[in-house]
Amino acid sequence: MADKLLSRYQELKEQINFHNHRYHVLDKPIISDLEFDKLLNELKKIEAEHPDWITPDSPTLRAGGKPADRFSKVRHPSPILSLANAFGADDARAWLERIKKIDDRVEKAKFVVEPKIDGLSVVLHYRDGLFVQGATRGDGEIGEDITSNLRTVRAIPLKIPIQTEDRRPKTEKPSTVIRPPSYLVVRGEAFIPIKEFEALNKKLEEAGERTYQNPRNTAAGSLRQLDPELTASRPITLLVYQIVHAEGGKIPTSQWEILEYLKALGFPVSDVPKRFNDLEKAIEYTETWDKGRDQLPYEADGMVIKIDDLNLANDLGFVGKDPRGAIAYKFPAREVTTTLNDIGVAVGRTGVLTPYAILEPVEIGGVIVERATLHNFDYIAEKDIRVGDRVLLKRAGEVIPYVIGPVVDARKGKEKKYKPPQKCPACDQAVEHIEGEVAWYCVNTACPAQLIRNIEHFVSRGAMDIVGLGIKIVEQLIESGLVKDVADLFTLKKSDLLKLEGFAEKKADNLLGAIEQAKSQSLNRFIAALGIHGVGEVMAGDLARAFGNVSALSKANLNDLQQIEGLGPNIAESIVDWFARPANQKVLKKLKAAGVDPQMQKSEGRKQDGKLSGLTFVVTGTLPNFSRDDAKEFIESNGGKVTDSVSKKTSYLVLGENPGSKFDKAKSLGVKIVDEAGLRKLVG
Ligand code: IVH
Repeated sequence: MADKLLSRYQELKEQINFHNHRYHVLDKPIISDLEFDKLLNELKKIEAEHPDWITPDSPTLRAGGKPADRFSKVRHPSPILSLANAFGADDARAWLERIKKIDDRVEKAKFVVEPKIDGLSVVLHYRDGLFVQGATRGDGEIGEDITSNLRTVRAIPLKIPIQTEDRRPKTEKPSTVIRPPSYLVVRGEAFIPIKEFEALNKKLEEAGERTYQNPRNTAAGSLRQLDPELTASRPITLLVYQIVHAEGGKIPTSQWEILEYLKALGFPVSDVPKRFNDLEKAIEYTETWDKGRDQLPYEADGMVIKIDDLNLANDLGFVGKDPRGAIAYKFPAREVTTTLNDIGVAVGRTGVLTPYAILEPVEIGGVIVERATLHNFDYIAEKDIRVGDRVLLKRAGEVIPYVIGPVVDARKGKEKKYKPPQKCPACDQAVEHIEGEVAWYCVNTACPAQLIRNIEHFVSRGAMDIVGLGIKIVEQLIESGLVKDVADLFTLKKSDLLKLEGFAEKKADNLLGAIEQAKSQSLNRFIAALGIHGVGEVMAGDLARAFGNVSALSKANLNDLQQIEGLGPNIAESIVDWFARPANQKVLKKLKAAGVDPQMQKSEGRKQDGKLSGLTFVVTGTLPNFSRDDAKEFIESNGGKVTDSVSKKTSYLVLGENPGSKFDKAKSLGVKIVDEAGLRKLVG
């Protein structure tokens, strides 16, 4: 009996690791998340009964590590080398000529060209196929032990070889099994893909938090801090390219075969590398990637050209820490200097003020750049960026160009220190700062810069859902003076609309019809539509249920508000502040007079005794049939609760296509995962 369970346990581990590899390395999952979740739960149940069976390759151990107070040191089994640079084709040719003189075999050498990813070099140790240690490069001799952090990176196999073929039904044997050396040390580059980096920054910016400067530093910082849970919440992945050391087994002797071999073992390996018979072809290929570097999903600062024959490469020896058998062919840096003519300030929907650089136009990598982000006011102060400075500017991938810092030596003395505005540049009202946040806000709801964004938000799908009121019309309404705040929408007359360009009878009727309908929108959505800082759709639902109407909500004090689960002092303060503002009170009064004052309906909101009572849900990704709001309404009408972020208390993650980091967090916390069909099933 126990034997049978033990073999089931081993099989489960293999299957889960297999599906994890399909998802995170190959990007080709073959089972639903619900099925994945079932396997994981079965595994957890067995582990709870037999904790002595747990081995280091158990998928439940990915995020199990506790924060440490320091990293220990790891001596690398052999030096972790660097690379000499070539800046252009002639440098690469000169390299070849040099090494030809050292060894005749170079005449007939083949070359492998690989991307040179700008990330953090990591060294992964496997003993008897198990991932046992991971380290940073450090000084090349000794690195830092970041094993617990690296375990959370799902692209890293916990056990090799990963079974790379689906072995269900269970009786089938895999077609090929490679037995890796008993001790294998591989090297790769950990990084955050550009798209993921931008999504991360966007989220931080919306939350008024400090944004990250670039993907490289963010990846490095996330791996070199002491809390594995934080690493797990960052979208870090990696690609491997080298075997640093092997004992107790044979490994291939050419770079090309090494890449194939690593791939077959289940490591993530780039599909960009190609092998060439002569250097000119290798250079040609390198240059196609120089032009096409924006197509790479990560930041690359060049390509690496490597002698394919590793015995030859090894015999060629080193110059300092640089092996002679490879060279980094650097892309021209997308960094230039230009003059910072001024600093502008943009005002977002929530009133966040974001400074940006107004630059002397300059070309970087074929694009003329005139504006660049300066992140936030603290950044300007920390870097001591002054108006009139020569500044170093970087553009990488599709990331918005950013100012790295001033060229202090180029100062002439006329540069001016920058003072953040005390008043909003668009409406001249005083700006405010929320304790603990990095952002400054304009809190005037009538601010013209915010007004456009505000109305756009007010009428959007998750809010009042006024169909047909797109951004163009919003702009027209504001420009014509017909709309000065959101309440004015509800007193628009047909004769007003007909005066606007592009409006005929039908369009005007349709729009007025949609506005009329919005008057009976639910209280949840109305509260969400107000755009109170920190109050999203989920929090709006909680407030609606707790207070029943806006009038009661507006009278709530900090204490009343903090009775709501998950509502902390910052959001409570932001709500109280919002209602305390005369401008907002005025808008609410106007809305009420126009007939917009939703009350909580008895049938609305959470049922006390539904099938989902007592359960907490988080929704991520796009669901096939439900919109986010539909899903929320469905869950709440069955007694469940919907929250924004995944925690140990989350009962289920409802997973759609293209999920965000919530998916990873849920998996790392072992939260149950269902798809839309699974959600419906829960209700029966
Ligand atoms: S090979 C002998 N290959 O670039 C092996 N390095 O400037 C030497 N890097 O520290 C390294 N992608 O962190 C190699 N495909 C690649 C690489 C790569 C990125 C990094 C690596 C190294 C740095 C050298």
